[in-house]
This record gives sequence, structure tokens and C-alpha cells, in this order.
Amino acid sequence: CCSQSGKNMEQVVVNGSASQVVVDDTNSLQKKISAIRQAGPIKLQVIADFDATLTKYWIDGCRGQSSHNLLQQEDPEYNDKRQKLFDYYHPLEFDPAIPLDEKTKLMEEWWGKTHALLIEGGLTHNAIQNSVAKATIAFRDGVTELFELLEEKGVPVLIFSAGLADIIEEVLKQKVHRSFKNVRIVSNRMVFDENGHLQSFKGKTIHVLNKNEHALDMAEPLHDHCDDVNGLGDEKSALRKRTNVLLLGDHIGDLGMSDGLDYETRISVGFLNDRVENSLESYRKAFDILYLNDASMHGVVKLASHLC
Ligand code: TMP
Repeated sequence: CCSQSGKNMEQVVVNGSASQVVVDDTNSLQKKISAIRQAGPIKLQVIADFDATLTKYWIDGCRGQSSHNLLQQEDPEYNDKRQKLFDYYHPLEFDPAIPLDEKTKLMEEWWGKTHALLIEGGLTHNAIQNSVAKATIAFRDGVTELFELLEEKGVPVLIFSAGLADIIEEVLKQKVHRSFKNVRIVSNRMVFDENGHLQSFKGKTIHVLNKNEHALDMAEPLHDHCDDVNGLGDEKSALRKRTNVLLLGDHIGDLGMSDGLDYETRISVGFLNDRVENSLESYRKAFDILYLNDASMHGVVKLASHLC
């Protein structure tokens, strides 16, 4: 990681495909690396977005699916209805002309209607398993290595998403084939009735525009996959004491994922997967380290091994 930060932009070749890493301010990055390294793994936590950050943006030339849009309900009518909502609301999500308060209402509306359709269609856990098995979704190369390293060092990982926690959990199960006691998911969590049908969602809906509020309040351990949920310390205050953050995201808005934390030092890593020319300037200023063109997670593994 040090050599990567020694130049403003360099080519890194991972698994034969060229991707680039950009560091806007190498001095600042070096200082942050030293500060985090000195404080040690006990003070560190990792906060990561899920879709297109932990997962690949492109898979064999096709756009990777998100936790929402991979889901296939038993009755296809519900998939069509959700797709119609997507077609209507997704452009509004990115419409710069809509004021934030209005957009927030629209996003609440979208998530509310989508969740209602999932409940009305009687989604089962079996449908989730089948959907994930058929989905175009894959973790970036190096993600398992990263989680293993962080687990070994006792560093918690918070996966933060406005998607669906149960899907993310199933993707981890099917694609990584092992559980991690240091990983927590902060996302929309389903509640099933005694017949195995989706009944409701737990707690406050997390959508794109409130994703950053109360991050730690919403953190919950991955009970099904943790041998020892206390490995993280189940106290949220334990996470709050970890005041150094390695943040991974693919949108500038993801930087807000650490807002709930009074952090001392934060290293932000961005993935600019697509239309690089349009966003390069804003992304390189926003993130301490920026990976271009759907890069692997190998650079982050190196960085993390340096930090803890
Ligand atoms: P995130 O993964 O960055 O937290 O954002 C969630 C994305 O999910 C957001 O860009 C909109 C998308 N989405 C769907 O694709 N389908 C849906 O039904 C809903 C509600 C959101």
C-alpha cells in the first residue's frame, strides 16, 4: 500500500486485467496510515457498502445485480410490479433537480412500496436461496481474504446497505462458503411468520438517503453465522471506541456511513466502476484512495495488512 501511495496515479495489474489506483494527497494518506497503524487493530473498524463495493460491478460483461434486483418472487407478477417501481423511482434517485426533502419522501415511498410487495407476494426464504443461486452477483476478488485477515486481527466489519440484509447474508453464505464472526450487516432485515412467509421488516427502513443516520444504532450481529457474536463485543459502545475507520464505498454519499461515529482517523477507499471520466475529479478529491474500473479488493487487503 505504501508504494501505491508513492505516486499520484499508477497502473496496477491484478489477475491479468489492468485497473488503476489514484491517490490525490499522498502525504495526508501516509499520515493517516501511520496514525492507524500506531493505534493498532484494537482501535480499528471497517465500514463497507455492499452493492458494487464488496461486489463486482461487471460480471462476464453483464452488470452485476444488487441485493434488491436479484430477488425473484414465486409469483412473477410481483417481480414485474417491483420492476415498474424501479423504472419510475430509480431516475428520481439520481435527479439533481429534486430537493433533498422531497427526494427523501420519494425514496421512503419507493422502499415502502417495494417492501409491501415482497410481503404481499409472501416471499419465502426458499425463494431467497433460489434467487441468490441464480443471480449475477460475485464478490470482488480479495474480499474473502480481506474478511479473513480482519477476523484474524479482531477487526469488526460493518456491511452497510439500503438493500436487504437477508439477501446479503445469503450471498455471503453461497459465495464465500463460510461465516465470519467479525461481520455485521446493517440493512433492511426481514421477519418471517411461522409458515416461512415474509411478514414484516424489522425497525426503521433504511433507504439511500437515510442510510447514514444512526449507523451504529442499527448494527446487529449476524446471529446465524456467528459462533461467537461477542467476538465483536455486543456492546455498540465497543464499536464506538474503535475510532479509526477504513471506509469502503462506490458513491461519494457512502462517505456518510461513518457519520454516526466520532472518528479520529478515517481512510476512505472509493471504487469508481463506470463512466470514470465523468466523476474522476470529484471522486479523487472525496476519497483518500480511489480504484478505477471495477478493480479487485487486493489493494485493500494490502492496505489492511499494513494497518493492523
Ligand atoms: P445501496 O446498495 O448503495 O445501499 O443502495 C441500494 C440501491 O438499491 C439503490 O441504488 C436503489 C436500489 N433499489 C433497487 O434496485 N430496487 C428496489 O426495489 C429498491 C427499493 C432499491
